[in-house]
Amino acid sequence: MGLIGLGTVGTGTVKVLLEHQREIERRLGFRVELKKICSRSIHKKDISWIGQAVETTTDWKQVVRDPEVDIVVELVGEPKTALAIARHTLDARKHLVTANKQIVAEHGLELAERGRAAGATLGIEACVAGGTPILHAIREGLSGEHFRAVYGILNGTTNYILTEMEQRNCSFEEALREAQAHGYAEPDPTMDVEGYDARYKIAILAMISFGQAVEVRDIPVQGITRIRQIDFAYAHQLGRTIRLIAAARRLPAQAGVGGGRLEAFVRPLMVSRSGPLAGILGATNGVLLVGDKGGNTTITGRGAGGEPTGVAVLSDVVEIAREIVRGGASVTGRPDRRKAQAGPSPLGYAHWHRAKLRPAGEMVASTYLRLVVRDRPGILARVSGILARHRINIDSVLQEPNHPKRRLPFVMTLEPGSERQVARAVTEIARLPFLAEPPLTMPLAELP
Ligand SMILES: NC(=O)c1ccc[n+]([C@@H]2O[C@H](COP(=O)([O-])OP(=O)(O)OC[C@H]3O[C@@H](n4cnc5c(N)ncnc54)[C@H](OP(=O)(O)O)[C@@H]3O)[C@@H](O)[C@H]2O)c1
Repeated sequence: MGLIGLGTVGTGTVKVLLEHQREIERRLGFRVELKKICSRSIHKKDISWIGQAVETTTDWKQVVRDPEVDIVVELVGEPKTALAIARHTLDARKHLVTANKQIVAEHGLELAERGRAAGATLGIEACVAGGTPILHAIREGLSGEHFRAVYGILNGTTNYILTEMEQRNCSFEEALREAQAHGYAEPDPTMDVEGYDARYKIAILAMISFGQAVEVRDIPVQGITRIRQIDFAYAHQLGRTIRLIAAARRLPAQAGVGGGRLEAFVRPLMVSRSGPLAGILGATNGVLLVGDKGGNTTITGRGAGGEPTGVAVLSDVVEIAREIVRGGASVTGRPDRRKAQAGPSPLGYAHWHRAKLRPAGEMVASTYLRLVVRDRPGILARVSGILARHRINIDSVLQEPNHPKRRLPFVMTLEPGSERQVARAVTEIARLPFLAEPPLTMPLAELP
């Protein structure tokens, strides 16, 4: 194999390979050799710890061209380069393993098709929920299932921040600083805290679970930057907690409405504290699969980090090595790529269609509405008057004690209604003169 990108995951992958090489050899019956490593600044890196003869280069094309490299592992991060490496590798009839969720979410079908045409396969397990085998579980272990929905906590950084806010009663900013100090969050955390990272991952999960190609940009996304400590206090009063949930689900076929369509989103939801995703804490990832026959299956584990992700990368390498051998090469001889057959589609389906996503705003749910106001008489009457005009019923009003009157938070829970209807009312409420900050709404989600 040849490896491109010796950063966090590249280094983790090499370390795991070195530590587990004998175990992998016992599994396969032959050794997986690391032939060549490419990294931009490889000559400045101390790679003496690798302790075995490995060729090095700064030019990734040399890895792809090397006749002794059958499997190219791409771990460079930067999407343009990653996509170029992926296309070159597959076109050169070599197998590719990548951890780049963005290129798989945006170009997965194209890459799978290139691979199929070239007799090369594509390993993508590391793209979603790092060290967990979630994609294999959906594609292989549960391939007889008809999935109704997939819900995930797919971003360790945001889950760490939310659970710190909940457990230590700290602010979003404090929890973010701590996540950065622990190396869980990038110096620029936008991709994580605004939900974009999770959006790529749910697009991949939707492809693999439903055989429908989803346009990443069509998935509505909302991050966690507006969640405050006080929201957890209210959530607890309601028997709930807050998690950034990435979801994709089939809409029930009703007479002429929604049948066969999908709904997908990334957003903070108030979920029941006794539900399967509420117990996923810290930087852990978790996915809840809802199947027609098998019911709920939950898979949790480490979603990131060099070595856990390296395990996922190597698991793909091992699987491809098995396929190469099954394709006709002798175990002791060099695998013959020309004889090798690409395995089942890496994306789980041989036939595809483009997903028709339900537009944002059509979800029907109970709603959490948090207002922060400059206290004065008549506030409740004004707010409930607006809600009544939009035909939205109030279920409860909650107010935590001991807050200053110039920034008084209180919460209303609203009976089930369409999000669009609630959004119209909230836009009107936001214009009221006594609001100290824009209102926050969150669905009170009933996950299976
Ligand atoms: N970090 C995680 O926990 C995690 C988890 C799951 C998936 N992933 C995915 O794994 C991939 C790698 O992530 P990472 O965290 O390991 O990134 P990283 O630490 O930034 O490492 C990327 C490495 O790629 C090298 N590189 C960049 N451009 C190159 C080029 N043109 N030619 C050769 N080498 C090049 C860099 O080289 P130099 O250092 O030599 O300059 C760097 O070491 C990304 O797609 C990421 O989304 C990461």
